[in-house]
Amino acid sequence: MSECSRRRFLKTTGALSTSLLLCDASKAAPNERIRHAVIGAGGQGGNHCERFSQLTDLCEVAAVCDVDPKRLAEKADRLPNSDRVARYDDYRRILDDDSIEAVSIATPDHWHAKIAVEAVLAGKHVYVEKPCSHNFEEGRILAEAAAKYSKCVQHGTQYRSGADMKDVVRFLQGGELGRIRLAKAINHQFRGPIGRAPISEPPEGVNYDLWLGPAPVHGFTKNRWHYNWHWFWDYGTGDIGNDGTHQIDVARWGLGVELPDAISASGGQLFYNDDHETPDTQMVVYEYENCHLVYEMRLWTDYKLEGHDNGVVFYGDDGKLEIGRDGCIVTHIGEAPKKIGGGSDINQNMRNFMECVKANSPQKLNAPIREGFLSASLCHFGNIGVRVGRKLLFDQNKMQFIDDADANKLLTRQYRQGFEFPSV
Ligand SMILES: NC(=O)c1ccc[n+]([C@@H]2O[C@H](COP(=O)([O-])OP(=O)(O)OC[C@H]3O[C@@H](n4cnc5c(N)ncnc54)[C@H](O)[C@@H]3O)[C@@H](O)[C@H]2O)c1
Repeated sequence: MSECSRRRFLKTTGALSTSLLLCDASKAAPNERIRHAVIGAGGQGGNHCERFSQLTDLCEVAAVCDVDPKRLAEKADRLPNSDRVARYDDYRRILDDDSIEAVSIATPDHWHAKIAVEAVLAGKHVYVEKPCSHNFEEGRILAEAAAKYSKCVQHGTQYRSGADMKDVVRFLQGGELGRIRLAKAINHQFRGPIGRAPISEPPEGVNYDLWLGPAPVHGFTKNRWHYNWHWFWDYGTGDIGNDGTHQIDVARWGLGVELPDAISASGGQLFYNDDHETPDTQMVVYEYENCHLVYEMRLWTDYKLEGHDNGVVFYGDDGKLEIGRDGCIVTHIGEAPKKIGGGSDINQNMRNFMECVKANSPQKLNAPIREGFLSASLCHFGNIGVRVGRKLLFDQNKMQFIDDADANKLLTRQYRQGFEFPSV
């Protein structure tokens, strides 16, 4: 890279429930603000409540929904307009409310795409947390629904809204580091064991049947519940679908690739000896025609890799680019590393969503759902590879693995009666 182009770059980067409706949700807001509803009021749903309610020029959080009444009250009570906020335990009441224009979904993964597609069919715009689906087929249908009904569906992969990230990707794809042959998505952090939890009664007042939804019925345990559901195949996607989605999304974006031709995955539990079903150690190689994308995960070490937070490294002929949560570092071979812009910005991802809703412009979304579907698919493929234990070859036309019935079965799931996946 010439001194001139580097300067230019550095300069430019920078079973059904009863509705808990407590007040009249159909009362119009005093201004033109978008009436938004948050579905799932846990850790991240609390974030949605807080951050969307701060976008006072664009929207107001008019309704909150959770099957756990304690969490519902906790999050709704904190809102600036808490006395006017509608509160539900059944998201379908939100979908029935024509005054609600947009919803955000921060439930466990097994609910994401089902609620999102139903919301699109009900005429709503959707901000759906990552990973947008619990399996490949759900994501494909969600992307199709958004396109068919021209709705704004934003994915919670907020690196896409990070400061200067579009410039960083342009720089990468402009050939300044030579040809990029490899990107490594790294997820190294410590996640403690969860122990073993016996079957017990769900907490009082919780609608556990509606929490389970499409998943098979299983007795309640404190591990198959708030947050720890991530580590059970019935509800979660492991840490590749949790934190890994962010890094895989950035790696795929930077490489400019979609679905891979071949996937080799290995993984298992080298550290946990408890209720965990998903791996604590996972390596996946995604093969594309001109490059490889590698995902590397270990959950039993400090939250750092060679001094950086977890992130992505792009390796080119003439140098490398590291992208982390707090920014990017460019190193040309033989030169000192230089810190540049980039990083992740959840507030901007939400603002961009609301601006697109207001302007009815799905094409201006920073993290459109088709990209979300593709990135979530790589996570699912990495898990399928581990579960079937062999290399997978993907047929891009049939959208199926070649000659692998076991792997193809895992591209979708069995939906519990009464919680079938909607058709588009
Ligand atoms: N974008 C990000 O950086 C980011 C960060 C954290 C979490 N997340 C995502 O957000 C999602 C939620 O994560 P979390 O840590 O808050 O989990 P959590 O378990 O703490 O919260 C999920 C909440 O959803 C509720 N819920 C379950 N089924 C429901 C239903 N049918 N209707 C309404 N509410 C229902 C649960 O009772 C719970 O309160 C996950 O998919 C996670 O991957 C994204």
